[in-house]
Amino acid sequence: MQTRKRSVIKLIGLSALSLAALTACGKKEEPAAPAAPAPAAAAPAADKLKVSFMYVSPIGDGGWTFQHELARKAIAQKFGDKIETSMVESVPESADAERVLRDMAGQGNKLIFATSFGYQEFVQKAAADLPNVKFEHATGYKQADNVAVYDTKTFEGAYLAGIVAGSMTKTKTVGVVASVPIPEVVRNINSFVLGAQSVDPSIQAKVVWVNEWFAPPKESEAATSLINGGVDVMYQNTNSPAVLKTAEERGVYAFGKDGDMSAFAPKAHLGSAVIDWTPYYSKVVEDTLAGKWQSGNFWWGVKEGAMDLVKIADQVPQEAKDKVAKAKSSMKDGSFAVWTGPIVDNKGQEVLASGVVGDDAFLRGINFYVKGIEGVVPGAK
Ligand code: GUN
Repeated sequence: MQTRKRSVIKLIGLSALSLAALTACGKKEEPAAPAAPAPAAAAPAADKLKVSFMYVSPIGDGGWTFQHELARKAIAQKFGDKIETSMVESVPESADAERVLRDMAGQGNKLIFATSFGYQEFVQKAAADLPNVKFEHATGYKQADNVAVYDTKTFEGAYLAGIVAGSMTKTKTVGVVASVPIPEVVRNINSFVLGAQSVDPSIQAKVVWVNEWFAPPKESEAATSLINGGVDVMYQNTNSPAVLKTAEERGVYAFGKDGDMSAFAPKAHLGSAVIDWTPYYSKVVEDTLAGKWQSGNFWWGVKEGAMDLVKIADQVPQEAKDKVAKAKSSMKDGSFAVWTGPIVDNKGQEVLASGVVGDDAFLRGINFYVKGIEGVVPGAK
């Protein structure tokens, strides 16, 4: 253990960012400053389950990482002195991630949440050497005995936002600022457009890719180019409120994504598609404490209380609000699935026949744009 730690530290000398991350790892444990000695009745620290979270971007004040952090705080509160949580933010999707994961384990964490798609290979490598640590990887697809994967049905939130967008666009052209070209993001773009077209099938869409999860200046530039191209309602799959802020400045509409972003753009904000990771994190901690943790592939959505469209703006017509409410309740009772045929791609090819519901394998492999979206998915033929 000692030798391993020394070599980790040596490696870190090469990377200021890793050093900052690992220092943060040590520093950001909960409770932040245990000044008073623990009362005699409290469980000794060694009995606590140590749980750590690795974040790809700064926590900031809204969005993907912010929502994970809210859920971390919620479980810290819920499980009290049964657990001790910590986190490291701004860990890139590179070998730095593997070093941070190994360091977390070295610090006694037995349950580790790696909360970005690009951590996948680093989780696999660290987990193979650390069989006594349970890893949870958000949005990946590679499992192992000690690696579970989990995700939220963000495409359901995108569809609900799309309904609102379809009722508000005047130019009949909506747009999406897209992050990293993986099926999840392509699925969200398409689902947003399907929602808009459920209001008006003639609606067209444009997409600009920034190829990063968190890049506020680029997100803003992409939003500007969409607006210059005639888009008047935007969605995004990036991790900051930059698109919304740009919409506010330019007098068009946009949505919050992952968290409630209404405060950033009082005029432009039409609603926020919000993820709540708390139900899933609670379940995992409960299972781990009970010795019942199991690997698996968990994908929760509106039905499980993990996804919602909140704070729909007053200016949205009541008819659209009713349509959102109806879609939401039928997602909850299972009578409606976003990906139900007929669905046609933007080359005119039918991808789901009438009445056919896309199964998980179909959803996880979406690599095309639906009818009405301009262009081609990066890397697709
Ligand atoms: N990492 C940061 N943001 C995201 C996101 O929206 N999806 C996935 N899969 N990974 C992320």
